[in-house]
Amino acid sequence: MSTNFNRKDLLGIRELSPAEITHILDTAESFRDVSRREIKKVPTLRGRTVINLFFEASTRTRTSFEIAAKRLSADAINISASSSSVTKGETLLDTARNLEAMAPDCIVIRHNCAGAPHQLARICRAGIVNAGDGSHEHPTQALLDALTIREHKGGIEGLKVAIIGDILHSRVARSNIHLLTALGASVSVAGPGTLVPKDFTELVEKGLRVERRIEDAIEGADVVMILRIQRERQTSAFFPSMREYAVHYGLHLEHLTLASQDAIVMHPGPMNRGIEISSEVADGSRSLILDQVSNGVAVRMAILYLLAGGGRAGGDVDDTTKRIGE
Ligand code: CP
Repeated sequence: MSTNFNRKDLLGIRELSPAEITHILDTAESFRDVSRREIKKVPTLRGRTVINLFFEASTRTRTSFEIAAKRLSADAINISASSSSVTKGETLLDTARNLEAMAPDCIVIRHNCAGAPHQLARICRAGIVNAGDGSHEHPTQALLDALTIREHKGGIEGLKVAIIGDILHSRVARSNIHLLTALGASVSVAGPGTLVPKDFTELVEKGLRVERRIEDAIEGADVVMILRIQRERQTSAFFPSMREYAVHYGLHLEHLTLASQDAIVMHPGPMNRGIEISSEVADGSRSLILDQVSNGVAVRMAILYLLAGGGRAGGDVDDTTKRIGE
């Protein structure tokens, strides 16, 4: 499989073509096997350096980027804002310039400001990966979600996907809506009126349906994607109480009787059990929540490979997944 991904950075899904998205997913599929081996390591990025620069909390994204880099034999360095010189007043761009002076090949950044990764991309030679910027985009989450859907449904085109919850503050929702509509799925979103953006006109023109009732979005859905209430981004009261939110927008087993018979349930994590999703659903047979996490490693291996390794150099991914010593 030769590559045709010629970008320096991965900043968002919106700017990717369907062919580029499909190419990343195909590459991730090739890397999935590495994590199933006894020796989970290939020499693909030996001698390359990946810096994880996280200004916001993370369990899944930061850990899986580190695991992905290490499984590709790259050197992985983790920096969190709380233990960096940002606490002494250094700016984001000065931090980036100083990291760049140490010649990393990729910088993975999570920041609470939309557009922070784009600023780094303009001044850095290293490939920049957006690991979540404010409420804007979380491209690798949408890619791992798509890989999970493809694995269980065989494809994306023609599927009905319901995205439920705090759409307004969700970078996961935005990236997923761009990706799923680009690949031909039909997407509905539902949430309290205060948590659904008013500026979705462009997406509505592309076929996005906006529902107020969770039941209307779930009706006939092949995929039900639940989002977390992002209390850390809410600057005012968007609904009267968590209890009321759970009553009107929490996903319970009985909701799934409205969905298609083999509907799958997804959640990007972290979950607020008993608020946006019941434990019965989260731990039930339709839940793919931990499959999403596993696929996160494969997708992040693919992105690091495409940006720092064979991707831009025109390498062959089938060669790169060979075991060390083969
Ligand atoms: N889904 C996700 O981004 O999880 P983390 O915040 O734990 O990285």
